[in-house]
Amino acid sequence: MRVGIIGAGQLGQMLGIAARDLGIECRFLDPSIEPPAAAYGDVIQRPFDDADALADIAASCDVITYEFENVPVAALQPIADKLPVYPPTEALRQAQDRLNEKRLFRQLGIPLAGIQTVDSREDLDSAASALGLPMVLKTRRLGYDGKGQYVIRNAADKDAAWQALGGQPLIAEQFVPFDFEVSSIGVRAANGETRIYPLSHNVHRDGILHTSCSPVDAPGLGDLAADYVNRLLQHLDYVGVLALELFVAGDQLLANEFAPRVHNSGHWTIEGAETSQFENHLRAVTGMPLGSTAGRGHAGMLNLIGAIPEAARSLEHGVLHDYGKSPRPGRKLGHITIVADSEAERDARLDIINQIVTQSTPDTGITP
Ligand SMILES: Nc1ncnc2c1ncn2[C@@H]1O[C@H](COP(=O)(O)OP(=O)(O)O)[C@@H](O)[C@H]1O
Ligand SMILES: [Mg+2]
Repeated sequence: MRVGIIGAGQLGQMLGIAARDLGIECRFLDPSIEPPAAAYGDVIQRPFDDADALADIAASCDVITYEFENVPVAALQPIADKLPVYPPTEALRQAQDRLNEKRLFRQLGIPLAGIQTVDSREDLDSAASALGLPMVLKTRRLGYDGKGQYVIRNAADKDAAWQALGGQPLIAEQFVPFDFEVSSIGVRAANGETRIYPLSHNVHRDGILHTSCSPVDAPGLGDLAADYVNRLLQHLDYVGVLALELFVAGDQLLANEFAPRVHNSGHWTIEGAETSQFENHLRAVTGMPLGSTAGRGHAGMLNLIGAIPEAARSLEHGVLHDYGKSPRPGRKLGHITIVADSEAERDARLDIINQIVTQSTPDTGITP
């Protein structure tokens, strides 16, 4: 069995490691030189929408998957007519445009904050009147790690927001004064079987994921989020791993976005779950039986952004995953996972590791 993976970044790398352990061969398509996944399979170094390269990977693999959601759907479609592309391109189409994504949530009865489309400066004024301030202006396409977003706190911010983002399709969203953020990660096999991981509690800094912890001590929330994930999985006739990000505000759970791929907030599953999200994604797309998504104790994950301090290499309790990328401010270079017997122990260890990492990182390019 050979799996073609579009993208060879750190998610491709962790898929590659899981594939090796399952005896599955990987082939990647990625334009970058020496991408993180290169040690785990042959890399076709061409742009993601290169028709010849896509035809080549399709001809040499049994199934195609992807590790990031900005693969042009039009480029993928010709190969999707020849062999399975999982998750289905329809999931990609929905997730690539925040407006489609939010409409899908609404259609499936998944609660979300109020939104308005913004295609002109006048639209921005009407959105502010309709939604109230603060609100978040976001590009419909290509945003990640908080990029392509502007929080409009008062009327005076509108011009600056328009200057920063105007001229491309946008949406305005009510700012959600959330208590905390969670994500629910699910996996669906081609035969319709689904499994959902315990909920992750996610903390972002400047729009970039900082820590994820699982499980979350709120059983009702996990069940509700799992129900929403199941609606998406069924509706999209999905195969593979999907991550749904949600805001928790009082007794409300509001959907933010979904990713049709393995997700940073599920990295803890490598050590902290019976079967990692990477292994389960591969199991799903290759037609192997799914593995258990049960947690193993209390897991925590800390992202290493901008630099990997030396101290992270000799931690007493943390497992370092170094993606082998060259350091750059704001860049995700690795992560540390811990698994403990209790929530208190997990939180205490994560605090210590966070302090060690923060103190010994001279400049992450991120303002805490
Ligand atoms: N409407 C909102 N209200 C409050 N915070 C928000 C809102 N939208 C985004 N954020 C914050 O910004 C982060 C990144 O936004 P998100 O929409 O998930 O985009 P990205 O594609 O960059 O992950 C969120 O995880 C959350 O912390
Ligand atoms: Mg997000």
